[in-house]
Amino acid sequence: MKTDVAIIGAGPAGLLLGHLLRQAGIDTCILERQSAAHVLSRIRAGVLETVTTDLLERLDLAERLWDEALLHDGINLTDGDRIVRIDLKGLTGRPIVVYGQTEVTRDLIDAATDRGLEIVWEAADVALHDVESDRPHVTFRNGGLEQRLDARYIAGCDGYYGPSKQSIPASIASTFELVYPFGWLGLLADVPPCDEEVIYANHERGFALASMRSRTRSRYYIQVPIDTDIDEWPDDRFWDELEMRFGKSIAKRITRGPSIEKSIAPLRSFVFEPLRHGSLLLAGDAAHIVPPTGAKGLNLAASDVAYLADALTAALRANDTSGLDGYSDRALARVWKAERFSWYLTNLLHRFPTAGAFERRMQLAEFDYIAGSTAAQTAIAENYVGLPL
Ligand code: APR
Ligand code: PHB
Repeated sequence: MKTDVAIIGAGPAGLLLGHLLRQAGIDTCILERQSAAHVLSRIRAGVLETVTTDLLERLDLAERLWDEALLHDGINLTDGDRIVRIDLKGLTGRPIVVYGQTEVTRDLIDAATDRGLEIVWEAADVALHDVESDRPHVTFRNGGLEQRLDARYIAGCDGYYGPSKQSIPASIASTFELVYPFGWLGLLADVPPCDEEVIYANHERGFALASMRSRTRSRYYIQVPIDTDIDEWPDDRFWDELEMRFGKSIAKRITRGPSIEKSIAPLRSFVFEPLRHGSLLLAGDAAHIVPPTGAKGLNLAASDVAYLADALTAALRANDTSGLDGYSDRALARVWKAERFSWYLTNLLHRFPTAGAFERRMQLAEFDYIAGSTAAQTAIAENYVGLPL
């Protein structure tokens, strides 16, 4: 098999990149370890920056998004007593768009065949070869057969656990990681959300988040210790804890119902540098992870891919490699600012087991400062809606 760009991974990064390259008339093939059904079964975050919705519009794949998405002009922070609304639209001129990552993935997969975007599902044992040359290739097994895909470039969109970054020599790679001492226990239920907008809570008992997928489907999270066994959290216990953390005025608006999905996600901040080595480019979770507090994971994958698609197109169509030469620095500049914001919100809103009374007072003072400062609220708003590309 031969293509211009071999993409490893059919998550949001790989799918968005594949569609953008096809739109530019570039030949590409995505190799995905899992089945389409498995990829579509993943429940992930649901807040899109306009950077991401702009890409879907550029691909003319935003019809269902605009039919079904919820536009939010603000987010809310509460300490169990006060509710501080961050007026995103008023402070930045932009909303956020609530539309599940699963739905984005579904729209991109559904359009693949019509757009000539080849996806090899259940490609096993993907291995990268000769990435330092200008004739790299990928080997994999599919349908019991050993396969080889020759390409001019390889895009590693294979997530945190994928093989791509392992192909970059440790002698030139740098990794930066912070693992948080807690996780998020998330619950999905077909009940109406407790509010029109997303609410982040920092309570004495810990963090909680009220979000949604639609006006009839809610998504809630509570901070739990890192080694929590999910079997210790039957639905009733989850609802009881959630109501305690949001305080009475919000709790009375929470509608309970049976969970249709419940899972625990660890929280980590991670960056791998550089994002390019020879003919190999990294994008999305393959290169960086953020704690979900700032809802940046999918949106960072989208911004990496926005830069990378233009760089690959210029290289392959106009023999201009300046975009590729500058890709790593340019994408990392935005990644690190999103890492900072996600780390900042996580520190503001969670109860750290090792934190003492002073650290708790710092959180309360920060919250109090935000409540009274338009400048502080603007700083949160412009990072939350997404810094410009
Ligand atoms: N071979 C082929 N495919 C692989 C391999 C492999 N060895 N390893 C991983 N993959 C696939 C995974 O199955 C997954 O479908 O790569 C894809 C990576 O997708 P994501 O992990 O979703 O990462 P990305 O596309 O960068 O999107 C980031 O997804 O997980 C969320 O929170 C994350 O919102 C963020 C977004
Ligand atoms: C979600 O709706 O899943 C969600 C919303 C906001 C976040 C994280 C997750 O910060």
